Amino acid sequence: MRHQRDSGRSGRGWRQWLRAGSAAAVALLATGFLEEASAQITNTRHNLGAGAGIAGRNQVSDTADVCVFCHTPHGGSTTAPVPLWNKRLGAGGTPPGGGTYNTYASLNSPSIDGTILPVGSISVACLSCHDGTQAMDNIINAPGSGGVTADGGGNAGLAFTWTGTTVNAAGALSSGASLIGTDISNDHPIGIQYCGGGLTGAGTAVAGACRDTDFVQPQTQAINGAQVFWIETGGTGKQRTDLPLYLRDFGAGAGNGIGPAVECGSCHDPHVSTGQAGPTGTGRVSGDTFLRISNANSAVCTACHVK
Ligand code: HEC
Ligand code: HEC
Ligand code: HEC
Ligand code: HEC
Repeated sequence: MRHQRDSGRSGRGWRQWLRAGSAAAVALLATGFLEEASAQITNTRHNLGAGAGIAGRNQVSDTADVCVFCHTPHGGSTTAPVPLWNKRLGAGGTPPGGGTYNTYASLNSPSIDGTILPVGSISVACLSCHDGTQAMDNIINAPGSGGVTADGGGNAGLAFTWTGTTVNAAGALSSGASLIGTDISNDHPIGIQYCGGGLTGAGTAVAGACRDTDFVQPQTQAINGAQVFWIETGGTGKQRTDLPLYLRDFGAGAGNGIGPAVECGSCHDPHVSTGQAGPTGTGRVSGDTFLRISNANSAVCTACHVK
């Protein structure tokens, strides 16, 4: 409905139309707003604040702020490769690499073509909660005035009061499928060079062919002077529902220098999920797994893998 107003209907005309009181129109309007609201982060498990949201989720009673568990407008991390990051990085570490993780590289999978780097980029930010090593109320700039602590309070965080079934009293993720831990060798590889490397950016075309043709060729474009890579899933240009690849430094020579990598954010958008219905069960809502696109028919997998 918002789009109708934006596309040409004058403010006055809009109000008159509303006053005309078509019950159907009003019902439609309400549904539109409800849909919009339910797509927002407040109605996901990433709302750790005290406000309304999914019943029984992990949450604190100390603040109803939502963004503060991840971002701050001022005084956040100076080293995190994520915008305005408000936490110490995962496994008590600093980038690149965060703390100590056992990566997919340790499997020595014979079919891997790309280089696997230590945990970094956006993934280190996800793991700052999902590795379970520190309290989720590890917050550098606490809600309200003052309260800046460079290490966010360390492993114990800010000693907020938590409720929820998969969080311990200290506020760290402690059980359940969302506890990824520091052994990420049993998770889809991250910090992994896309399609075996050999891709660089030039204008809007990818220079270089995928070394491993089992992969879909990505798109690239210079946006604000930075070369950006993504896997197209529809629409024009780079959108939130495309799968972004993140620039990492794979080293000189055969490493192919700076190039695109798969990270947690390639498949997930931490704010909102318009993707698939997630794991089912009590208290679960549609779109639970923060996927950028629905994974029906394994569409997330086949966006990259030619399989
Ligand atoms: C659970 C952690 C988390 C929470 C909570 C969160 N964000 Fe984010 N946000 C991230 C991460 C991680 C990124 C980096 C995304 C990327 O690089 O793809 C990000 C990126 C962003 C960006 C820039 C990229 C984009 O997607 O537009 C904006 C703007 C943003 N967040 C705003 C917010 C606001 C506003 C809130 C609160 C309503 C919020 N975020 C809550 C984790 C979070
Ligand atoms: C501030 C802490 C925090 C950060 C940072 C964070 N998460 Fe989460 N995430 C959670 C919590 C808490 C849950 C819910 C766990 C549960 O209910 O067992 C969760 C759940 C999830 C789920 C599963 C949702 C479901 O309903 O089953 C996914 C997927 C997820 N996170 C992905 C990410 C990704 C990707 C990032 C980084 C872009 C990220 N998270 C960053 C705290 C965080
Ligand atoms: C290549 C794509 C891809 C990457 C990369 C990826 N995920 Fe996922 N993730 C998925 C898919 C698909 C699901 C949904 C699985 C399902 O429906 O059972 C999922 C599910 C999850 C869940 C919910 C687990 C559950 O069963 O409830 C969490 C938490 C999560 N991912 C976090 C992460 C984090 C953190 C990273 C980075 C370390 C990451 N993911 C990287 C594709 C990915
Ligand atoms: C954003 C792109 C992308 C998406 C989406 C994606 N993958 Fe991958 N996947 C990769 C890359 C890159 C590799 C590393 C392959 C290599 O270097 O040989 C990889 C590796 C793997 C491997 C390990 C192969 C080996 O040789 O050890 C498996 C298995 C796999 N992916 C399955 C999946 C599944 C299942 C999904 C959907 C849930 C998925 N992938 C989604 C890009 C992606």
